[in-house]
Amino acid sequence: MRQGTHSGPGRIGRTEPPAGRPPVSSASPAAAPDVVLVVDFGAQYAQLIARRVREARVYSEIVPSTMPVAEMLAKNPKAIILSGGPSSVYAENAPRLDRALFEAGVPVFGMCYGFQLMATTLGGTVDNTGAREYGRTGLHVSKTGSTLFEGTPAEQPVWMSHGDACSAAPEGFTVTASTDLVPVAAFENDEKKLYGVQHHPEVMHSTYGQQVLEHFLYRGAGIEPTWTTGNVIEEQVTAIRAQVGTKRAICGLSGGVDSAVAAALVQKAIGSQLTCVYVDHGLMRKGETEQVEKDFVAATGVQLKVVDAEERFLAALAGVSDPEEKRKIIGREFIRVFEQAQAEIVAEGSADGEEVAFLVQGTLYPDVVESGGGTGTANIKSHHNVGGLPEDLEFQLVEPLRQLFKDEVRMVGQELGLPDEIVQRQPFPGPGLGIRIVGEVTRDRLDLLREADAIAREELTAAGLDREIWQCPVVLLADVRSVGVQGDGRTYGHPVVLRPVSSEDAMTADWTRMPYDVLARISTRITNEVSDVNRVVLDVTSKPPGTIEWE
Ligand code: XMP
Repeated sequence: MRQGTHSGPGRIGRTEPPAGRPPVSSASPAAAPDVVLVVDFGAQYAQLIARRVREARVYSEIVPSTMPVAEMLAKNPKAIILSGGPSSVYAENAPRLDRALFEAGVPVFGMCYGFQLMATTLGGTVDNTGAREYGRTGLHVSKTGSTLFEGTPAEQPVWMSHGDACSAAPEGFTVTASTDLVPVAAFENDEKKLYGVQHHPEVMHSTYGQQVLEHFLYRGAGIEPTWTTGNVIEEQVTAIRAQVGTKRAICGLSGGVDSAVAAALVQKAIGSQLTCVYVDHGLMRKGETEQVEKDFVAATGVQLKVVDAEERFLAALAGVSDPEEKRKIIGREFIRVFEQAQAEIVAEGSADGEEVAFLVQGTLYPDVVESGGGTGTANIKSHHNVGGLPEDLEFQLVEPLRQLFKDEVRMVGQELGLPDEIVQRQPFPGPGLGIRIVGEVTRDRLDLLREADAIAREELTAAGLDREIWQCPVVLLADVRSVGVQGDGRTYGHPVVLRPVSSEDAMTADWTRMPYDVLARISTRITNEVSDVNRVVLDVTSKPPGTIEWE
């Protein structure tokens, strides 16, 4: 096993920012951003609203509808948005809101369920009329100069999803829009700064939705659009320095976007107090390990310990074809190797008297929201199985991306100067090419798949398809052979499968209808340049029923 500690040019201490980047003062902590709270009434609308608010350059956070109003107000929000949700306001267990929320002087914008809740709480009428509207609907705006609708057309398409309908606005409100079925589809009360729309402005099918939302934020609530991912960097650098102090931290780099950006951010804050560990399990794609070893280190100056564990992983995988078995082996070996490297860093740390007390993780905001939203002070235990070490080592977590969505993480990465190849990388599974070889994993097969995969990636990038395609696994059917003819001879080689998919979150996906000429180029190049592959096939299955990966 080869192990080495790399440190790139421009390695820095805490107080010396790398050349070419503005210094960040640790003496004056960055001011907390103005926050807009998005009250979550369920059904995943809240996340999308929070993202749209941030696209309007205003910082947003999601809170559950069960949070007491006093607690919401204690966060000193500049505005509050009430999301849609699956309930009917008349259902027995439907979530409610304390009237105090509307009387606190904080601007409020209700959408869909939030709109109906605002209406009923303040004395308006919502009827179960049987007037259901789902999907694209025509909105008739009667007050085109209103706070929300100014500059938008009198007739505009919006996305609806409701059963009940508002028939009378609360006192003091002006009705600003209707639909064929709903007399009150939007209302506004400028004096009290309360606004509502029956539709979903956050979805892209509501053509003027973002404009309506921005009108609420800027005109209704008077918020300045000043939040940027640059603010995040400053805030986080200050916060990380305060959290870590003079102790040391470690971070596992996977080659993926999240761990790379988290590490770069922590590196900017604490410099050489951070050591990154990269386990090369030999299942990476062509060039990826070099990208981490060279480009990432060059861009960040991070101290990197690379563990070349290819032999170990291949030995453990020998003779194994079952995908779940492969995953288990790769996961188990990964933890062992990582912990050993970690233990060595801990040991080095205690030699110079500084305790390694922190573990950096690239947890993102959707993970935080989906797991019920913590406050970031969790301790995790790392079990050690290396002789001479304590049974358990406790680390505190540093999670600098907990506030961010994926696209924001990419922006932070870009601003930190990480190479595009890392920041714009498509998702790649932890077990790597190990689960893209149907059959036993061997070095020869990995080399072959690496070549085919590199050709596909190169051609997709050249054709400008990287953004349109969510990811494109290239799969080697190592247990299948078919007859071919190349040159003057008969071949008996393997097929590879191209699996280009379009998706928003990998939960569902469709196969990408990519241009035939690009497919043709990939096919010709793979069969010409990769020996032992004599067929390229295209996977035209959506998910469900197929998964994205073949194993
Ligand atoms: P499936 O194949 O389940 O994949 O449709 C959904 C997304 O998850 C990735 N994937 C994995 N990622 N470890 C990972 O870290 C795994 O074992 C694994 N299996 C699938 C896959 O690439 C896709 O983005």
